[in-house]
Amino acid sequence: MTSKEIKIAYLEYGSVDELEPMDRELAEAAIEATEGSYAPYSKFNVGAAVRLDSGIIIKGSNQENAAYPSGLCAERTAMFYAAATYPENAIISIAIVASQDGKICQNPATPCGACRQVMAQYQTKGGQTMSILLIGAEKIWKFEKVEDILPLIFDSI
Ligand code: THU
Repeated sequence: MTSKEIKIAYLEYGSVDELEPMDRELAEAAIEATEGSYAPYSKFNVGAAVRLDSGIIIKGSNQENAAYPSGLCAERTAMFYAAATYPENAIISIAIVASQDGKICQNPATPCGACRQVMAQYQTKGGQTMSILLIGAEKIWKFEKVEDILPLIFDSI
């Protein structure tokens, strides 16, 4: 038996103002995207913004439904729209933020497992790493690639 370890490297920033200009622009788009959130059940408003390799930014937000499983997370709303509209372009970064009662949540918004799996697949499809910005009111985390938030990705088929 061998004991093994997986280490994850990420950057932590104190605010959106500390980010590089491209990341700041994406973070601001994700914050704007929370305005499109339709979350009458959870009242948890999530915004996501993805940047394509062409530079285009696409926004998405969570959309809930009375038949609960019919709703969709902000990240997948943004990624599916981007992939459906610009199938030739790679998604090179995604920013995610959550707000409640109109205020950005303190801790960085961490995507659910299903959204991470979808990120993984679009990263493979695009052939370029997809960076991930998780935005909170007091700190922001940046990961360079999807493997960093989804170790041991399922990609066997
Ligand atoms: N939600 C997202 O939009 N993204 C995530 O990564 C986690 C959860 C949404 C789904 C639902 O509308 C609400 O947040 C509460 O779970």
